[in-house]
Amino acid sequence: MGKKQINIGLIGYKFMGKAHSHAYKDVSLFFDIPIVPVMKVICGRHDVPLSIAQEKFGWQERITDWKKIISRSDIDLVDITTPPDEHKDIAVEAAKEGKIVFCEKPLANSLKEGYEMLEAVEKYKVKHAICFNYRKLPAVGLAKKLIEQGKLGKIYHMRAVYLQDWILDPEFPLVWRLQRKIAGSGAHGDLNAHLIDMARYLVGEFSEVVGVSETFVKERPLLIEKNDLNTGLVVTEKSDKKGKVDVDDATIFLARFENGAIGSFEATRFAPGRKNGQRWEINGSKGSIVFNLERLNELEYYSVDDPACVQGFRTIIATDASHPYAANWWPAGHIIGYGESFVNMVADLLNSIANHQMPSPNFVDGVKCQEVLEAVEKSIKQGKWIKIMSKI
Ligand SMILES: NC(=O)c1ccc[n+]([C@@H]2O[C@H](COP(=O)([O-])OP(=O)(O)OC[C@H]3O[C@@H](n4cnc5c(N)ncnc54)[C@H](O)[C@@H]3O)[C@@H](O)[C@H]2O)c1
Repeated sequence: MGKKQINIGLIGYKFMGKAHSHAYKDVSLFFDIPIVPVMKVICGRHDVPLSIAQEKFGWQERITDWKKIISRSDIDLVDITTPPDEHKDIAVEAAKEGKIVFCEKPLANSLKEGYEMLEAVEKYKVKHAICFNYRKLPAVGLAKKLIEQGKLGKIYHMRAVYLQDWILDPEFPLVWRLQRKIAGSGAHGDLNAHLIDMARYLVGEFSEVVGVSETFVKERPLLIEKNDLNTGLVVTEKSDKKGKVDVDDATIFLARFENGAIGSFEATRFAPGRKNGQRWEINGSKGSIVFNLERLNELEYYSVDDPACVQGFRTIIATDASHPYAANWWPAGHIIGYGESFVNMVADLLNSIANHQMPSPNFVDGVKCQEVLEAVEKSIKQGKWIKIMSKI
């Protein structure tokens, strides 16, 4: 008997659109899952580049209006990879139509929108998931296991940084990620969102935060969209005029956790040489672990239980079949990459759907992350520590 199929409607076809398409394409090759994703319809606003993406990524159909995906009875799962300003409307409408909703991070542009999204998926009783894909790396899964097994003992610290440098040049244009109405915030919602999720996953719930942020380059060249008459493509060009950057370039915050641990978190797009430098270290009474996304197959581990003569950080290559997800990939030592985190994410999502379980992480995690993001912003405005008063 053939496997059950699930029809996917993907909204967005650029960076994350490609990452999610790659995941749907590869998931059945590496995972034995009772349901098979069918790449049914892809959506974007401009038909010509969309048609190129449709063909390249392997989607059956394309549509330029996302509402037409939501209203189709043959679509089971709506996958949202648009910038955050569109997440709420698409997710709420998709939930109303009874679709499974899979949304990119950050969940929304504000906590208020996040609550509306969670309310909708709960009201219409649909499954929901958020793409905090870094949870799905074998080295991160190993970190989680070590903590659960008590190998770190009582956790004291998490210090985490997410460092990039792609907007260092003051002449880099005012893209959507630098506009509050589209992105919600800058480095904070984009990068700290990942760190906050990682901290919630590995350490526990936040109890209070205090932050500081800065926008180093306050104005940048505006972008203008033009139709290229030769190719039919919509192209963007830098204008002579400048517009205001109204998001943070860097946000740093300190935190206390409910379990007594303390942490420091830093997100910046102004760290020359750091391209996608997500690094964190967790220290406990019995040991420490260290992770660096740019060496994502590795987890460093130090145990106080080792004999003193051999004590030191060991580097574990998380490719052994005993490591989470690793058995689905290559033989030990044959490493995986960034794109594979999305395949693992989609594998978990499809397995949850097949087993009639709520996927993890989901909109609850999205909202909890948003509560911390917003508390940090409030603390920056008010210049004081803010307690996380979770409403969920
Ligand atoms: N999980 C991760 O590691 C990760 C990495 C990068 C981005 N993201 C998140 O993914 C989301 C998208 O980021 P990106 O880098 O892919 O952006 P992008 O600019 O590369 O792509 C955005 C896509 O959304 C489409 N789009 C925008 N408005 C639309 C509309 N109204 N209707 C249909 N399509 C629309 C655009 O055409 C484009 O294809 C953001 O929320 C971002 O934070 C997550």
